[in-house]
Amino acid sequence: MTSLTRLPEWQTFVQRAHEAAEINLREAFNQDAGRSERYSLESSGLFLDYSRHLINDSVLSALFSLARACNLEDLRDAMFGGEAINMTEGRAVLHTALRAPREASITVNGENVVPQVHAVLDRMYAFSEHVRNGNWKGYTGKSITDIVNIGIGGSDLGPFMATEALKDAGGRFKLHFVSTVDGWQINHILAQLDPETTLFIVASKTFTTQETLTNARAARAWLVQQADEAAVAKHFVAVSTNATAVGAFGIDTNNMFGFWDWVGGRYSMWSAIGLPILLAIGTDHFKSLLAGAHAMDTHFRTAPLEQNMPVILALLGVLYVNGMGSQSHLISPYNQPLHRLPAYLQQLDMESNGKRIRLDGEAVDYDTGPVIWGEPGINAQHAYYQLVHQGTRLIPADFIAALDNPGSSEHHHTILLANFLAQTEALMKGKTAEEARSELKAQGLADDAIERLLPHKIFPGNRPTSTILLKKVDPFHLGSLIALYEHKVFVQGSIWGVNSYDQWGVELGKQLAKTIENELTSGNDAVQHDSSTTQLIMRARAALQDRKVDRS
Ligand code: F6P
Repeated sequence: MTSLTRLPEWQTFVQRAHEAAEINLREAFNQDAGRSERYSLESSGLFLDYSRHLINDSVLSALFSLARACNLEDLRDAMFGGEAINMTEGRAVLHTALRAPREASITVNGENVVPQVHAVLDRMYAFSEHVRNGNWKGYTGKSITDIVNIGIGGSDLGPFMATEALKDAGGRFKLHFVSTVDGWQINHILAQLDPETTLFIVASKTFTTQETLTNARAARAWLVQQADEAAVAKHFVAVSTNATAVGAFGIDTNNMFGFWDWVGGRYSMWSAIGLPILLAIGTDHFKSLLAGAHAMDTHFRTAPLEQNMPVILALLGVLYVNGMGSQSHLISPYNQPLHRLPAYLQQLDMESNGKRIRLDGEAVDYDTGPVIWGEPGINAQHAYYQLVHQGTRLIPADFIAALDNPGSSEHHHTILLANFLAQTEALMKGKTAEEARSELKAQGLADDAIERLLPHKIFPGNRPTSTILLKKVDPFHLGSLIALYEHKVFVQGSIWGVNSYDQWGVELGKQLAKTIENELTSGNDAVQHDSSTTQLIMRARAALQDRKVDRS
């Protein structure tokens, strides 16, 4: 594998990126009335305006050449074709198969996986309809009112994000998400619930995750204490790839919805992990969610790179990370239903491309995945946008909004959109010294006061943003939006030459936690760590012992 930085296309890219860093966006727009049209694109229900980036045709063409030199098109075909591109785990990467139509054929090890996908979907649809129409009864014969998803990471973030985003399409049940092993969360949630009408979904790809199993045991004990063992079958279902562990936990595998090792946890909301979404929004809406993602898959697989939305978003990211030294990427959704989107994208992007070893085992000599951060934009305006506007860092940002917003009043929505549009204009244009001076003059300030204030009132502008418009935050457009980011992550991983589909970096902390857990409960035995960890373990152990005494 030729190192990325040795490719001639890399050298050209770096040189053109230096030139692009000098672009003045305000001037670029003044000089070229067609800029926004040329650098915009519509697909799968999404509109992307990427004209407010530090780009020109020359740097874009260098980026597309770089992508081709990294064999992006072949790698993309290998992913869609079911090849084992997750080479450290020897697995295919086929979340796209989860939203493929029934008649499609995608083979893994010689077997068409699409019929299996639809068989599980059909079971999920039947189960969901049963629960939604009140025919699934709890141990006292009552219908379900509350659903609790117990899962963490990819077994929590997608369902939580999507059920929040699609609340207007749901509303049938009260949904609760238990993820942390801080027992405060599950205790507070259980305190609100009636065991007779609560359904628990234990969601874990591996069914070995300590946090999830600890919470599932607590929920099971809570139920059994108020009912009996037989109630478990009526109040617990599992979602997993590990039927043996589900059975060993005490959940009937008839109440299990499976998926496959070729679905990564952070790519799994389209699989049985999406059961809470399905229960919340019903079969037709869930099918629309899958259809939106499939539309984006088709676009990504077939559109030329130059007109390919995930490719363009990914290459813009490469431009800032590798061409301009940017360290982070801001996600600013404006619609409140999308409030969990940044958290969802943090796992999707950072667990995928937070890597420093390439597929050939060599360390990279360039930066890879940036820090992804953000929250709903209107709140962010009143919190940290100051730094984005006038701070010292280059922070590319994605601004995301739906043009229609049925859950809001026209007045609220107009103000929201006005702010959304104003921020990207302000970030791009900034405010010159002349503009700031004349504003201060108009306010009647004396000349010396103006000169004192002036430097603080200047906005440098030239802050790059993408604008992504959805028609509505509905299942189809949400599906398309999430698939857009999945493929963006794939493209960046392909260029950086890393495996976007493993996550060995989360293992070390898990191993150490096991050791420390034993040490915390092992009385006064000596522990052997560095002095800092030892000192902190001793304090935690003493606190746990005091707590035991207090409660005895
Ligand atoms: O520890 C990280 C991780 O493995 C994620 O990749 C995954 O989404 C999460 O934990 C939960 O894993 P599981 O679904 O197997 O419980």
